[in-house]
Amino acid sequence: MGTLFGVGVGPGDPELMTIKARRVLASCPVIAYFAARRSRGNGYAVIEAFVEPHHELLRLTYPVTTEAVARDDYERLIGQFYDDSAGSIAAHLDAGRDVAVVCEGDPFFYGSYMYIHQRLAGRYPAEVVPGVTSVSAASAAAGRPLVSMNETLTVLPGVLEPDDLKRVLAGADAAAVMKVGRRLPAVRAAAEACGLADAALYVERASCDEQRVVPLSQTDDVEAPYFSLVLIPGTGIDER
Ligand SMILES: C[S@@+](CC[C@H](N)C(=O)[O-])C[C@H]1O[C@@H](n2cnc3c(N)ncnc32)[C@H](O)[C@@H]1O
Repeated sequence: MGTLFGVGVGPGDPELMTIKARRVLASCPVIAYFAARRSRGNGYAVIEAFVEPHHELLRLTYPVTTEAVARDDYERLIGQFYDDSAGSIAAHLDAGRDVAVVCEGDPFFYGSYMYIHQRLAGRYPAEVVPGVTSVSAASAAAGRPLVSMNETLTVLPGVLEPDDLKRVLAGADAAAVMKVGRRLPAVRAAAEACGLADAALYVERASCDEQRVVPLSQTDDVEAPYFSLVLIPGTGIDER
């Protein structure tokens, strides 16, 4: 049987793919990738230049977005989608073909690959190739160390309810708020309520040509795309 690889391809700049990711991709006959409808696929965009004629591509198209359907329907549809995707990948593995599932950033850091791993890793050999996360790329883009000395880092999704955003941010030394998108105003309000807005930075498309870093307090007219996060760097370094 084939081996399943979850390959982290980094935050966007193809130069931030690891040597191992490049090697595994080159050696797998099948490359699977997730993509929203009408999208090329974020992970696929990173690796497109490395696809060779011997590769068979397996596109896994999300059926829905969270905004488009009620929560229960979303959970059911997305669960079915991951079941079907795992089935398509398993067919290749059963035929003895290795499959690389590409994943933006790191596969086990909010990455969709984990849902395939959860379904297949008990049945097939599986290996995860870690990748550079968007949080590392964002602090590099901002030119600000994220955490120093005894500071703790809090990572949270921007889709939390406003009260939860505030509760979690209130106790943070440093934080990375993922999945900001349309939730940017709510994240900004929570950071302001916690007295963190001055230190916070909005980072869009870190490591890509279109990369943008803006103080969170100046994002009133920003329409945040999918590839954006809010970074609240720790201040411990400033005390040294
Ligand atoms: C489903 S999570 C995937 C995270 C990814 N596995 C990682 O390791 O960074 C998607 C979120 O990651 C963040 N993200 C991914 N790439 C980014 C980038 N280049 N710049 C800023 N944020 C990014 C955004 O917050 C986006 O909504």
